[in-house]
Amino acid sequence: MKILAIETSCDETGICILHYKVENGAIELCGNALASQIDIHAQYGGVFPSLAKRAHAEKFVPLLKEAMKEADVEHVAGPNLGADKKQLISEICAKDEILGENLSTYLQSHPKPEIDYIAVTVGPGLEPALWVGVTAAKVLSAIWDIPVIPINHMEGHIVTAAIEKTSDKEYRFADLAFPVLSLLVSGGHTELVIAEQFGSYKKIGQTRDDAVGEAFDKVARMLGLPYPGGPAVSKLAAQFREKNIENQFTLPRPMLHSQDYDFSFSGIKTATLYAIRDHGELNDEDKMALAAAFEDAAVEVLIKKTIRAAQEYGTPTVIVGGGVAGNTYLRAQLSSHVEALAKTGTDITVLFPEQWLATDNAVMIGMAAMVQVIAGEIKISALSELKADGNLSL
Ligand code: KG4
Ligand code: ZN
Repeated sequence: MKILAIETSCDETGICILHYKVENGAIELCGNALASQIDIHAQYGGVFPSLAKRAHAEKFVPLLKEAMKEADVEHVAGPNLGADKKQLISEICAKDEILGENLSTYLQSHPKPEIDYIAVTVGPGLEPALWVGVTAAKVLSAIWDIPVIPINHMEGHIVTAAIEKTSDKEYRFADLAFPVLSLLVSGGHTELVIAEQFGSYKKIGQTRDDAVGEAFDKVARMLGLPYPGGPAVSKLAAQFREKNIENQFTLPRPMLHSQDYDFSFSGIKTATLYAIRDHGELNDEDKMALAAAFEDAAVEVLIKKTIRAAQEYGTPTVIVGGGVAGNTYLRAQLSSHVEALAKTGTDITVLFPEQWLATDNAVMIGMAAMVQVIAGEIKISALSELKADGNLSL
C-alpha cells in the first residue's frame, strides 16, 4: 500500500512516497524530496506568500520526479494524454499556469504509477502556497485516477513524534498511552492539544498573539541573525550557557501563572526590543546573552504550562511537534523536568520528532494519512470538495 504525500503549506516543498507493509506493520520511506525556500525569503525576514507560491509551482514537478525515481515506482502502461486530459489539466490549473504546464509535460510521459492514495496538506498555512499542493494533487488524482486524502498540517506534526525508526528507511508507530497531550510549536502556531486518539483533538490553549517560532524569528532579526531565526538564536544561546556566567538580561515570562493554558509571546519580544534600546549597541557577547535570556523565557513558559496541563488532564504521554520541537534546549529542559517528576511518582513519556522531521516535510503528511490507513478509516475527499483552508484548525 503506497501513499504519495505532498506538503506546500509554507516555505518547504515536500514530496514523499511511503510504503505500508501490512504483513509486519512497517512503513518504508521509499522516496523523499524536499526543497527549502529559505534563500528566497531570507531577505524579507519572513515568508513572502506570492514568492512562496511561485517557488512551490516551479519546484513541484522536479521534486515529484526525484521522489518517484528514488522510490522506483512502476508506472503501469496507459494511454498518452489526449487533448481532453490536457484541457482538464489546464482547467484545474487555471490560476497556476507554470504548474499546469509542468504537470502536463510530466504526465505526458508518466502514466498511472503504483500508488494507492495521494495525501496532501489542505491547511493551516499560507493559502497561496497551500493551493499549489492542492491543485497538483487534484491534477494527479484526476489523470491517474488515485483518491486524495486531505491532511491537516498540524496533525502531521503530532503523528511524526509518534513514529519510531526500525531500520535505515523503515518506521513504525510507537504504542502510545492515550490520552496524548501535544505541544505544537511552529512559525504559525503555539497550542496545547489533547488527543483521546489520533484523529480526535481538543485544543485546551493557544497563543493570544505571536507564535513562539515567530518570536524566535523576530528576535533573530533584532540580533541581526538570518531567517529562519530559531536555530540561529538557539545556537547563540547555547554558546552563552557554555560560558557559565550570570546573564545581565532577564526577560518576562508572560502568562506563566495564568490559570488557563494560553500563551503570549509578543511581550517577550517587545521586552527584548526595549532591552536592546536601553543597552545600546550590542557586542557579540551581549547578543549571546540576550539570545539566552529570550530562549530561557520562552522555553520556561512552554514547559511549565505543558507539565501543568499533563498533570491536570492526567495525560501519560506528551508529544512536542512543529519546527520549534527541533530546539535542543526545549528538548533537554522538558526531558529533565519529566525525569524530576518521575521521582515524585508521576510518569510521563515525552516524545519528540527526529530532528530532520521537526520542520515541515512531506513525510509528516504521509504519516498522518498512514494513521487513517492503519485504523481502516480512510477519509477520502471528492475532488470538487478539495480546497485549501489557511485557517484550518484541528
Ligand atoms: O513547523 P515549521 O517548519 O513551519 C511552520 O509550520 O511554521 O516551523 C518553522 C518555525 C520557524 O519559526 C523557525 O524559526 C522555528 O520553527 N524553528 C526553531 C528551531 N528550528 C526551527 N525555533 C527554535 N529552535 C529551533 N531549533
Ligand atoms: Zn509546520
